[in-house]
Amino acid sequence: MRDVINPAARRLWGAFSYVITAEGEQESRPESDEEWQALRTHADALIRAGLTLKLPTLRVDDGSAPPAAAYQFDHAEVERLIAADPSVWRNYAERMQGITLRIVTAIDRRDATAYTELGVELNQTCEGCHVQFWYRPLQRRVSPP
Ligand code: HEC
Repeated sequence: MRDVINPAARRLWGAFSYVITAEGEQESRPESDEEWQALRTHADALIRAGLTLKLPTLRVDDGSAPPAAAYQFDHAEVERLIAADPSVWRNYAERMQGITLRIVTAIDRRDATAYTELGVELNQTCEGCHVQFWYRPLQRRVSPP
């Protein structure tokens, strides 16, 4: 996640930007073939990472991650959740790959509209999996009457 998936996705999401500052508007988007090709490389990395997520031997903790924050499941808990529901986990990984494949098509067609729309879908898939397998359900806080 930290070393491959997140950097690749951030580069894909960052390709189009529009910033308004006191100095004026600044728009940035891929223009040259090299810039589009670089995005394709990041998309390829994401698709390959999806394969890794589907390996039955996947271990969530590679020993290098800092301790989980209080609102996150720890690594052993995540592994238990995956083991309890492996097909749901695999579906999220496959959805991530499928959307990224469509991003590759958008890149090849230089279709900026499809590209940015698919970026939103990609983000929803990341977060869908995180909500299910990484973030603890929110505790209901009801104040006593
Ligand atoms: C199949 C489920 C799944 C999908 C899909 C998924 N994630 Fe994750 N992600 C997790 C789990 C579980 C963790 C917590 C365990 C860990 O750190 O690896 C996590 C952790 C992370 C972390 C924290 C890593 C760290 O060590 O600090 C980042 C950042 C992240 N994901 C980004 C993303 C992005 C961006 C995407 C989509 C492009 C994505 N994830 C897709 C399951 C998923």
